Amino acid sequence: MASKFFTFLLLLLFLQTSYSTFSLALQETSPATNHTGQINSNSVLVALLDSHYTELAELVEKALLLQTLEEAVGRHNITIFAPKNEALERDLDPEFKRFLLEPGNLKSLQTLLLYHIVPARIDPHSWPKSASALTHHRTLSNDRVELTGDDSSGSKFIGTARVITTNAVNRPDGVIHGIEQLLIPRSVQQDFNNRRSLRSISAIKPEGAPEVDPRTHRLKKPAPPVLPGAPPVLPIYDAMAPGPSLAPAPAPGPGGPHHHFNGMRQVKDFIETLLQYGGYNEMADILVNLTSLATEMGRLVSEGYVLTVLAPNDEAMAKLTTDQLSEPGAPEQIIYYHIIPEYQTEESMYNAVRRFGKVSYDTLRLPHKVLAQEADGSVRFGHTDGSAYLFDPDIYTDGRISVQGIDNVLIPPEEKAKEEKKTIKVATVKPRRGKLLEVACQMLGAIGQDSRFMSCRL
Ligand SMILES: *[C@@H]1O[C@H](CO)[C@@H](O)[C@H](O)[C@H]1NC(C)=O
Ligand SMILES: *[C@@H]1O[C@H](CO)[C@@H](O)[C@H](O)[C@H]1NC(C)=O
Ligand SMILES: *[C@@H]1O[C@H](CO)[C@@H](O)[C@H](O)[C@H]1NC(C)=O
Repeated sequence: MASKFFTFLLLLLFLQTSYSTFSLALQETSPATNHTGQINSNSVLVALLDSHYTELAELVEKALLLQTLEEAVGRHNITIFAPKNEALERDLDPEFKRFLLEPGNLKSLQTLLLYHIVPARIDPHSWPKSASALTHHRTLSNDRVELTGDDSSGSKFIGTARVITTNAVNRPDGVIHGIEQLLIPRSVQQDFNNRRSLRSISAIKPEGAPEVDPRTHRLKKPAPPVLPGAPPVLPIYDAMAPGPSLAPAPAPGPGGPHHHFNGMRQVKDFIETLLQYGGYNEMADILVNLTSLATEMGRLVSEGYVLTVLAPNDEAMAKLTTDQLSEPGAPEQIIYYHIIPEYQTEESMYNAVRRFGKVSYDTLRLPHKVLAQEADGSVRFGHTDGSAYLFDPDIYTDGRISVQGIDNVLIPPEEKAKEEKKTIKVATVKPRRGKLLEVACQMLGAIGQDSRFMSCRL
């Protein structure tokens, strides 16, 4: 802790020193007004460096972007979307910030900053008035940003960031609009995730295929990880939250004394990976937006538990019926049946079913187990009808969390029997995408919580 703080102080000192050196250099050249790469003192760039967007100004300087920007304002007006200082200090994941400031990641830092600058003057009056009337602009990073508005509140947005001060600075060669949060282009987020996954994979020795007890044909619990911090002594069920809740996930607090792993970070990482993988948006949405399961999983991983998630893809989710979803806590119960409290990869599961034919895994939905067997050179979960194939193996594996894509939603056989009786009476509901979300939104609406979720308002 102390050394972290010290590093931070050093960094601050360094930033400040280099910043003032730069300001000096700028003052020397600023009187020039022609387009030979020298900068006009009336320029929006000079204004940026003088403005209260000091965090952004420091990053721009640190990214060695001034030359590029001077050339840009020499050619055309620019619009800078400037995140408020807090967005770059308090609100920014410290690890992400460290990533940006590593010398080897200069390119990512440059891309990120250029993503905040559009080579044209965007006038507040020309902003779209509604969410549907969006406009796109190519930024200096060559990615596109989307401008939208909300006619009822009069709010303006760029991407997901709200504009808080239009024309915070207005100069002959450009304008600065203050925004609430940092915009992170997809490519930079990806670089960051890749770097981090690589690091955590090399830092954490993956556990091998689990041992199988020859008497019971049940998998033995994987050997405790050889890592600092004792493995949890309590069974995972004792560590789980007492009951399902539909409340939005609370902000994760600092880890307690027993937290050996940054589980929240790992969960965030795997959800990010799911979204980038494509075809698993519903699953990601349920974990993050509709339930507090992501937080719950993060907490369990922080406490040393390991998890394997069998993630049904979007097509599978779309087959769920209103009946299956309408009971309170149903989304949690469905997902709990898809989480195995062991670390399994495609290879370890495939090896197990090949050797033993059938293997049953515990799930977080006690006392239900999920059956796995070999089928068509792959692993098939569940019982004959309503079974699911391991469809997208090892979407995410980091030694503690493993995510395996499957092509059907698994229902415990006992539940299945109940449902079949019901569906005879109920006319078949036309399956469609977003069903789970829709039903959950209705339920949230009934308890007056829907406004918390953007997804529910659409
Ligand atoms: C630009 O300014 C520099 C220094 O003031 C001057 O030497 C140069 O001739 C100018 N160039 C043009 C194209 O005006
Ligand atoms: C920038 O915008 C201002 C005001 O709209 C305009 O007068 C000026 O010519 C523009 N400059 C360039 C380089 O396009
Ligand atoms: C959660 O909801 C927000 C707002 O609708 C959406 O942008 C985001 O993608 C959702 N998260 C996931 C993981 O789907």
